[in-house]
Amino acid sequence: MSDIIKIKDDYIDKLNTENNVDKVNNIKSELFGKNGIISNEFKKLGSISVEERKKLASDLNNIKDELQNKISIKIQEIETKEINLKLEKEKIDVTLPERDIEIGKIHPVSQVIDEISSIFSEIGFSVEEGPDIESEYNNFTALNTPDNHPARDMHDTFYLDNNKELLLRTHTSPVQVRTMLKGKPPFKIIAPGRTYRSDSDQTHAPMFHQVEGLHIDKNIHMGHLKGCLNYFIKEFFEVDKIKMRFRPSHFPFTEPSAEVDIGYEIKNGKIVIGEGDKWLEILGCGMVHPNVLKNVKVNPSKYQGYAFGIGIDRLGMLKYGINDLRAFFETDYRWLSHFGFDPLDVPSNYRGLSR
Ligand code: DAH
Repeated sequence: MSDIIKIKDDYIDKLNTENNVDKVNNIKSELFGKNGIISNEFKKLGSISVEERKKLASDLNNIKDELQNKISIKIQEIETKEINLKLEKEKIDVTLPERDIEIGKIHPVSQVIDEISSIFSEIGFSVEEGPDIESEYNNFTALNTPDNHPARDMHDTFYLDNNKELLLRTHTSPVQVRTMLKGKPPFKIIAPGRTYRSDSDQTHAPMFHQVEGLHIDKNIHMGHLKGCLNYFIKEFFEVDKIKMRFRPSHFPFTEPSAEVDIGYEIKNGKIVIGEGDKWLEILGCGMVHPNVLKNVKVNPSKYQGYAFGIGIDRLGMLKYGINDLRAFFETDYRWLSHFGFDPLDVPSNYRGLSR
């Protein structure tokens, strides 16, 4: 018995100086594991006399309780110490200055697409999308542009295969075809997106943006087209009055076809839309050709309507005074921080980059 008391005292000493939970747990299994010191002592009880057993059992139980108590107190002590240490280290210094957040800017093209979409949504147009890689059929044939039509050259198309079956769409008009093929009239949609032509100068880039418009229903006529475009242009440029003229033109997919110019003047080196005697072409439009309707299984004697294609980048350049189209796509961060737009929800610690 004196042996076991000695062992207990040694272990109590050991536990007093221990600072590591794993090591305390090791001690626990040394004592109370399957072959632990205390466990083995209990096993011996079976081989001694009844009187001895009573006494020894009660002593052993006291020792066991004392050691187990010590162990759980110790573990708690170490854990509390660790938590306090951690809290101490993680203290937040509220006097430190806040960190700046740098947020990206919205590209003028994205901004203009949002503006256009919301203006047209207000008058009942929904927004459709189509892929940049198109079939020759959707881009040309379905739009009444036969094989030998000069428009195919005029567009300077980027073909993607030798058979000229796949191409980068040269306009957003194929979305008209896709929309009408998958649904039933009436149709009232716009389709903004990227378009591609082999062209590059101050006002032309090989990739640019258009928004297509299409309104097909019973009894739609050119008056609706004029009203719709007039409304859009006034809303977009935020002016009450607009000078607008329809010039006869030709597109294979519309009959009659027109190009639309808006009046402008230069005042103090700035372009003012809706006044003056200068004209600027901004879009092509017309009444959808019956052949196009036939190609997409819409009966032209029952349904007709108008379509238009507007150059998005050019509208953005005009509205926001940007004079080189190529800068739109050079991904120059300084340019974007100047011409870009702040997102709506700007956090209070956003210092931003001045426009
Ligand atoms: N797709 C024509 C172009 O890229 C623009 C256009 C003209 C679209 C007349 C139309 C339209 O939908 O009816 O030049």
